[in-house]
Amino acid sequence: MSSEPEYRPGLEDVPAAKSAVSFIDGKRARLEYRGIPVEVLARESCFEETSWLLLKGELPTQRQLAEFDHGLRTRRRLHFRLKDLIRCMPADGHPMDALQASVSALGMYAPTRAVNNQAANWDATLKLIAALPTLVAAFSRVRRGEEILDPRSDLDHAANFYYMLFEKEPTTAVRKVLDAALITHAEHTMNASTFTARVTGSSLASPYAVIASAIGTLSGPLHGGANEEALAQLEQIGGPENVKPWLDAKLAADPKFKVMGLGHRVYKVKDPRANVIQELAEHVFAETSRPKNYETALELERVCAGIYGAKGVYPNVDFYSGVVYHSLGIPTDLFTPIFAISRVVGWLAHWTEQLVGNRIFRPEQVFVGKTDVPYVPLEKRP
Ligand code: ACO
Repeated sequence: MSSEPEYRPGLEDVPAAKSAVSFIDGKRARLEYRGIPVEVLARESCFEETSWLLLKGELPTQRQLAEFDHGLRTRRRLHFRLKDLIRCMPADGHPMDALQASVSALGMYAPTRAVNNQAANWDATLKLIAALPTLVAAFSRVRRGEEILDPRSDLDHAANFYYMLFEKEPTTAVRKVLDAALITHAEHTMNASTFTARVTGSSLASPYAVIASAIGTLSGPLHGGANEEALAQLEQIGGPENVKPWLDAKLAADPKFKVMGLGHRVYKVKDPRANVIQELAEHVFAETSRPKNYETALELERVCAGIYGAKGVYPNVDFYSGVVYHSLGIPTDLFTPIFAISRVVGWLAHWTEQLVGNRIFRPEQVFVGKTDVPYVPLEKRP
């Protein structure tokens, strides 16, 4: 009998850490941050308060929240050389690559790289959460040939990000939907990028390296990119009246065709985050009008419920988020960077947890190669 441990591709079902940051019950559509359901936080809280909750384990006092918020507002600005660096980046480069490079560069301006210094770690935590929106907005403006806007300290996190992108303040409904989108994407247990953050953190690399590596993992289409594809699919369908014929044609060509924005490894009912985003989107659309993409999405959800509901395949968070971002005028390739602006909090909460009793990750492999291969000198090879 072999004593080799069982190999599980993708480490599926293999616990990679003990964590108290978030909890998912996929059958009951429940996602909790430190015990509080995400819907409650999206309705009652704000991104800043939720960030503290994730990082510290409990809701802040009024004073703690005020200090934390002030700490974020005062760390939003970029060093002028960092702005120069962003101006030198190729305008047709992907914003996720720009963000990853900028975060690495941001770390070069940090006062210390040590991770055994609690004050320095907290300072880096604040700096990373505060500066990511500035980095994303800066690249977005530069590539359009626009000047980088300085952050405004009189606006909250979500409103300031919107301002830095568009040079105007969001309406109340737009600010709220952006804030709620940041809350709902902030943490999601042991996903690929969070695992990356913990692995990088386990080597005692700097928090900037931790976040840069997590951004790299999030940039892949199997992780952060599904909302872009969900939007492209709605545009391809072109209207609610086309949903049924479109889906019939797709299924006739491939019975295993996957509808983007549907299904989830963990949730077997509608993703609670999809409900939150949809509810808030309705408030935004009440100010303007319902975009055609949204009408198409509603019809697609209805038709798909009849086909896939029995399999537990329902809308996930990406089903409506792309429609909302698009309706706000946000370019499609910024959807994943916005995910990063939010998820940086979850990554940092896991990094902080990882450092307590840290042990560097060093998993096993199942060796399937050759051994004892003789070296043949070059002149004797064909
Ligand atoms: N459209 C149609 N059928 C689907 C879909 C879908 N989007 N998702 C799953 N199914 C079907 C499968 O064909 C399969 O059917 P079968 O039992 O008859 O073979 C059954 O549901 C189970 O599907 P799996 O692929 O085994 O489910 P898994 O948990 O492995 O996949 C995943 C989850 C990858 C998210 C999948 O649902 C999918 O590819 N969805 C589309 C892409 C997407 O929206 N990704 C974003 C996920 S959320 C996020 O990452 C933030």
